Amino acid sequence: MRYAISGASRGIGLEFVRQLLARGDTVEAGARVPSEARQLASLAREAGGRLRIHTLDVTDPNSVRAFATTLSGSPIDVLINNAGIGGKWNAFAEVDFEDMARVMETNAIGPMRLSSALIPNVLKGGTRKIIHLTTRMASLADNTPVGVYGFAGGAYAYRMSKAALNAGMRTMAVDFHEQGLITAVLNPGWVQTDLGGKIAPTRAEESVQGMLRVIDELTLANSGRFLDYQGKEVPW
Ligand SMILES: NC(=O)c1ccc[n+]([C@@H]2O[C@H](COP(=O)([O-])OP(=O)(O)OC[C@H]3O[C@@H](n4cnc5c(N)ncnc54)[C@H](OP(=O)(O)O)[C@@H]3O)[C@@H](O)[C@H]2O)c1
Repeated sequence: MRYAISGASRGIGLEFVRQLLARGDTVEAGARVPSEARQLASLAREAGGRLRIHTLDVTDPNSVRAFATTLSGSPIDVLINNAGIGGKWNAFAEVDFEDMARVMETNAIGPMRLSSALIPNVLKGGTRKIIHLTTRMASLADNTPVGVYGFAGGAYAYRMSKAALNAGMRTMAVDFHEQGLITAVLNPGWVQTDLGGKIAPTRAEESVQGMLRVIDELTLANSGRFLDYQGKEVPW
């Protein structure tokens, strides 16, 4: 199968590439600055042509257009919108609105921009899947003074951006249902990456193993859902 993924230079994106290659898939990997993505380059050297690395900044329309042009109408089975940033987790009085705009641009608009550019490729693919990496912190139901995840309140930009992404995914699930598009937002768990930090309880290997299982099992009948890496439903 052929996958396209954004944010493949490190963290969860890099681990997706590693596991996809290990199981024999082909990957079109986007990195903002490929020359700095050394681990990705080393995977490419061992992949026998199954990994191509592209310059891709999801906030830059020209970059996204160039990526789509390189793929020139060829089928993509699964697009994984992985690229994302945390932004500043300031208290309300210190919210930095320029930072908030950057986080919205990267986490909410970026995945829609990339999905829009690649939807012709995905609809030509055999499995027709678009997956977005979201977060449990986007759950409105869980964001209460007694939220079960222990992260209620704060992180305005991150929460708002991923909740907007969730709304975009849900809308695409409706609009492209007739064309067979299968889509979902996945919470990877709290994962040990630059974004998640060292004290996160879940390793990227485990999170990605789980997410690949969930992605493989998604069907049109259960498209449009908010799931975690173990396949459990997350409350909206
Ligand atoms: N780690 C967690 O605990 C956790 C929890 C919930 C959700 N998530 C989500 O999972 C996804 C991956 O996170 P991670 O933990 O792997 O984070 P990470 O280690 O910080 O990696 C983020 C990746 O996104 C890329 N990126 C950032 N801005 C970009 C842009 N404008 N265009 C293209 N690529 C861009 C980065 O590229 P550069 O190397 O060029 O900066 C990097 O490859 C994110 O969407 C995140 O919100 C993570």
